Amino acid sequence: MSRTLVKDALHATAPMDSILLQGWVRTRRDAKAFSFIELNDGSSLKGIQVIADAGLPDYAHIAKANTGASLEVRGRLVESKGTGQRWEVVAEKFTVIGEADATYPLQKKGHTLEFLREIAHLRPRSNLFGAVFRVRSRLAYAIHQFFQNRGFHYVHTPIITASDCEGAGELFRVSTLDPVNPPKTEQGAIDYTKDFFGKQAYLTVSGQLEAEIFATALSNVYTFGPTFRAENSNTSRHASEFWMIEPEIAFCDLQGNMDLAEEFVKYLIRDAKEHCAGDLEFFSKFVDKDLLARLDFVLERPFQRCSYTEAVEILTASGRKWEHPVAWGDNLQSEHERFLAEEHFKCPVTVYNYPRTLKPFYMRVNDDGKTVTAMDLLVPGIGEIIGGSQREERLDVLQENMRAHHLPEKEYWWYLDLRRYGTVPHSGFGLGFERMLMFVTGVANIRDVIPFARTPGTAEF
Ligand code: 4AD
Ligand code: MG
Repeated sequence: MSRTLVKDALHATAPMDSILLQGWVRTRRDAKAFSFIELNDGSSLKGIQVIADAGLPDYAHIAKANTGASLEVRGRLVESKGTGQRWEVVAEKFTVIGEADATYPLQKKGHTLEFLREIAHLRPRSNLFGAVFRVRSRLAYAIHQFFQNRGFHYVHTPIITASDCEGAGELFRVSTLDPVNPPKTEQGAIDYTKDFFGKQAYLTVSGQLEAEIFATALSNVYTFGPTFRAENSNTSRHASEFWMIEPEIAFCDLQGNMDLAEEFVKYLIRDAKEHCAGDLEFFSKFVDKDLLARLDFVLERPFQRCSYTEAVEILTASGRKWEHPVAWGDNLQSEHERFLAEEHFKCPVTVYNYPRTLKPFYMRVNDDGKTVTAMDLLVPGIGEIIGGSQREERLDVLQENMRAHHLPEKEYWWYLDLRRYGTVPHSGFGLGFERMLMFVTGVANIRDVIPFARTPGTAEF
């Protein structure tokens, strides 16, 4: 007999004379003539109730079926007489596969998120984290569906790279040199020509530059992979290792880029609502009461768009006392971004055309000479979830930008070649997968939407 997943048992349309279930005991309650076990196998938020009659030959083993133990149950799927569930299983044979004693940490509900982070190897067995990681899995699939259905090709960009795409210097070095006694140049500096790759190498901060190569060949491409940033920001929205989705589209300008970003975000929300309804209900009950209403609100309206210059005017006119006062030319801080999305526009807003000096070398310079075609999508509760731009396709302007950013042309020879041979206007963006998950689940800390969080000072598991 093959195993039935709890999810499928719960959705059965008729009773079943024989069923095999395997999972973990969430709770057990012993009455005089029966025991009731709630069995969960992670296929759904809900477990199934198993009834074990005290007359069963195995019944003596019931005491081993404690919370956390793994269990195999054979029996009958019958209509439940109790309330709250349609089906339950009457056990005919049960086997405790792996016991769990009273030290099992997930005995009772009501653990703090901080405590659960310390037991990241067990937290997927809790209701909250089971739900988070089912949504994560589903949305990873939906991302591929979204792009594949629109004729985009999936590109695997390298994880080890020699270039700093974002130019922010937040790179993790990849090296096999002896840290105690590294080879030195005559000037006394570390000699990276002796390192594994013959030059300095890092973990990628973005697959964009390589995605641009493929966009100028396959037209529409996307990447979806791990991304690393050694930024020492201990916030609820920054991780040192996170996943990013980066589409890159040839023959596309900033408008088309903003349209795609909006369509993409809405698609993912709709997909989660359709395929993870039970999990989203759980979040709206226990994590964020406004979640479902907010997601509907976001789906129903077009996102707002506003230029950086307008954004600064709005912030200045607000009469707020900012922790970081803002004037034209300053970076928007989290407090500004959240004000725009949460209080001013009260919905997702794309801010575009940022000052040239604030943004990386690859963004297209506008005719005003002062701004570049950057775009950041800001959402209520989180702030930036997408950063993107139209790329500079003009060789001479790009070279000038690189000089302004002190980037040596010889290291970007291949990137410049894309402008030498068949250059086209093209655009793209990066969506932080964890930030999107925070938005869809209402979970407030990035550490709780990634299986094993890497943040400054933490790389356990
Ligand atoms: O705005 P960013 O830095 O843009 C880029 O990397 C571009 N190369 C993307 C592109 O145009 N192809 O990062 C994009 C997104 C951010 O909006 C944010 O959602 C996420 O990546 N992100 C982070 N997520 C978690 N932890 C961090 N430390 C993050 N840094 C960026
Ligand atoms: Mg950004």
